[in-house]
Amino acid sequence: MGTKIVTLVLLPFFFFLHLVLATTRIPATSLATAIQGEWRLLQECIGISAMHMQLLHNNRVIMFDRTDFGNSNISLPGGRCRRDPHDVALKTDCTAHSVLYDIGTNNFRPLMVQTDTWCSSGAVLEDGTLVQTGGYNDGDHAVRKFSPCGGEDCDWVEFPNALMRRRWYATNQILPDGRIIIVGGRGQFNYEFYSQPATVSYDLEFLKETKDEGENNLYPFLHLLPDGNLFIFANTRSILFDYRQSKVVREFPQIPGDASRNYPSSGSSVLLPINENGPIEAEIMVCGGAPHGAFTSARQGYFIRASSTCGRLKVTDQNPAWEMETMPMARVMGDMLLLPTGDVIIINGASSGTAGWENARNPVTRAVIYKPRAMQHNRFSVMETAQRPRMYHSSATLLIDGRVLVGGSNPHVYYKFTGVQFPTDLSLEAFSPPYLAQLHDPVRPRIVGMAENITYQRKFSVTFSVNNFLKVASLSVRIIAPSFTTHSFSMNQRMVILKFVEAVNVASSTYRITAIGPSSPEIAPKGYYMLFVVHEDIPSTGMWVNVV
Ligand SMILES: *[C@@H]1O[C@H](CO)[C@@H](O)[C@H](O)[C@H]1NC(C)=O
Ligand SMILES: *[C@@H]1O[C@H](CO)[C@@H](O)[C@H](O)[C@H]1NC(C)=O
Repeated sequence: MGTKIVTLVLLPFFFFLHLVLATTRIPATSLATAIQGEWRLLQECIGISAMHMQLLHNNRVIMFDRTDFGNSNISLPGGRCRRDPHDVALKTDCTAHSVLYDIGTNNFRPLMVQTDTWCSSGAVLEDGTLVQTGGYNDGDHAVRKFSPCGGEDCDWVEFPNALMRRRWYATNQILPDGRIIIVGGRGQFNYEFYSQPATVSYDLEFLKETKDEGENNLYPFLHLLPDGNLFIFANTRSILFDYRQSKVVREFPQIPGDASRNYPSSGSSVLLPINENGPIEAEIMVCGGAPHGAFTSARQGYFIRASSTCGRLKVTDQNPAWEMETMPMARVMGDMLLLPTGDVIIINGASSGTAGWENARNPVTRAVIYKPRAMQHNRFSVMETAQRPRMYHSSATLLIDGRVLVGGSNPHVYYKFTGVQFPTDLSLEAFSPPYLAQLHDPVRPRIVGMAENITYQRKFSVTFSVNNFLKVASLSVRIIAPSFTTHSFSMNQRMVILKFVEAVNVASSTYRITAIGPSSPEIAPKGYYMLFVVHEDIPSTGMWVNVV
């Protein structure tokens, strides 16, 4: 069955490959990679289960799970121990619950968090500092900061009681003015801003209205729109929200179908790439989730089939309407990530049950890639099978080289390695999407020079080389914000396809593209982005740029 779907979806591509095969000699492995991508195990054991992940602009990924999981498999740095009379697992814990992974060397080192980070949220400030907010128990009002450094000694800095409200299962979004909005959380029908000291929180009735018996409104999907308003999706409903005036500007139609889309029915969502080469439009996509009642059923041992639908809503339309599509397989707890090509990968998760302890069965080990601009019915393709289930508390993030980093999975209250169907997973893997296959190297652009900063509305240029230059029409420059991923949602994720001016041949196989910086901080808030040149649908390795 699975194979049949793949064959049908990929038929046109197979023809293309056969053509290539007929004219060149390509090893079979490379061909397979060009069709279904490739998995690689990076680390068998990083000591913790990567429940939360954030890529930083120095190519380190900071990860953490929770302090009340019990002893992890990695000791705290410097022989230290955390003594916490409030901890619900261990009052004295000499193990780490956060690590810093170095992409370039494939090494990692332990970091120290003082209070519980379980089910928290985060966003990166314009200077590149990660601000992580909330968690559980003694950590639910905490703010923790991590500033990337060159050396080996930087670590978390904690600010206890820096939040007005308890933030457990909240969502964050960096704003055009540099502040961070923190929305919701368990029992919190309100929002606040990160800017110390916290002094006020604002009610958001919409969150109360969307809470049903399984909740299904936690980790709401937040997307900053080009008009400066916030799109907020919870359960099955969504609003356009003016956070400056605390006003619901409009409510969008409810997403069709019987599935809830937010935790614990955990679907996922992305803001599709914003293209500056034309009228500015914004389109939201939501995929997967679980039917109403699935959480209660899972608690009773019945694991209902997850949702297999996605909805797209062009929120900048006068009368937006959901356009529904069906994924090749049902999925709950999938992570949706924007790839440099502007396609969306949906990875991790299960096909029955919901998020929550022991609540899911039937891992979905095949990612799918969705091409938003392809003809309908021709948009999904199914990727290679992963060896490891990535269930509740798994995560994924795009790396600067175009790979997708995957880790985590722990559906148990403590670390549990034996005697369970889905043991706690402490490994890290990378998925290489088809565009990374060597087969594509002749048309792959390689960035050889560019400025470290780009400025709003100002021209800038990027120099790249490519062996086989095909056509200017297939060239573009894009920026992607690195996201804070947890619980199947990548906060702050966005891609902007920048306005293209020209491309000129400056030397043999070398070209210079001129493009224009983002039009506004509403389209791209200040800060660090990964910049990619894409040629013939094949991306370069990214370069970090600072939008200033
Ligand atoms: C983690 O530590 C436990 C207890 O020492 C051990 O049983 C388990 O094999 C370790 N797991 C990994 C992946 O290293
Ligand atoms: C880039 O921007 C930062 C922040 O505004 C500034 O400090 C730095 O000097 C700029 N670098 C260049 C090369 O212009």
